[in-house]
Amino acid sequence: MGSTNGDVLPADPLDGHIRQGVTATLSIGHNDPMSDTLHYSDTQAEIHKLVVGPYENNVFVLRCRQTGESVLLDAANEHEKLLELCRALDVRTVLETHGHWDHIQAVPAVRDAGYQVGVTAADAAMLPSYDYLLEDETVIRVGRLSLHTICTPGHTPGSICFRIEGSPVVFSGDTLFPGGPGATTFEGGDFDSIIESIDRRLFAALAPDTIVMPGHGDDTSIGAESPNLDEWVNRGW
Ligand SMILES: [Fe+2]
Repeated sequence: MGSTNGDVLPADPLDGHIRQGVTATLSIGHNDPMSDTLHYSDTQAEIHKLVVGPYENNVFVLRCRQTGESVLLDAANEHEKLLELCRALDVRTVLETHGHWDHIQAVPAVRDAGYQVGVTAADAAMLPSYDYLLEDETVIRVGRLSLHTICTPGHTPGSICFRIEGSPVVFSGDTLFPGGPGATTFEGGDFDSIIESIDRRLFAALAPDTIVMPGHGDDTSIGAESPNLDEWVNRGW
């Protein structure tokens, strides 16, 4: 563990104002600047999306509609915007999909603000600091939501995806995009590994209607991408 500060989750900064479930959640939307970040919602979950930094990184906040508690995925950049989102949506922890530069620029700022940051062991050394390690096939509780970890090495050795139990959504980081896998040309990247990860851990394991929310750009779905795997293997990227 690389913890130097942020060991304790912050006291509830909203003092229970938005912790009363769906009704309260909807009511803050009227005058809250965060209301325009809403990207997806169903009966149990809400997902907010912000695009930040020079590489247009997607930052997602997954929120339990029952309790109002949230988790932020990728403290990528523009930390002031992310901290505003963290406070407004009662973020309890921050998860990193991988350790690449463009996905971690706001890590020091969110840790300084008291939010704990989790990353896989294989990518941990790419971060300036972090608080805890993420492992494969574990469940992260977000209010009453269960977020399952799926280690998908290839883009980086420690790339990880997250799927929501009971909602058809997977956060794919830079592992899977519309039209193919993430790049494997950076140091630590491996094309055979990313193909294996996508084939075995995403395409074989997730329903075709699962929405894929990647680390950059637009959503896609497992069903839209899985027929193209052989083409990606043949072209080599
Ligand atoms: Fe990346």
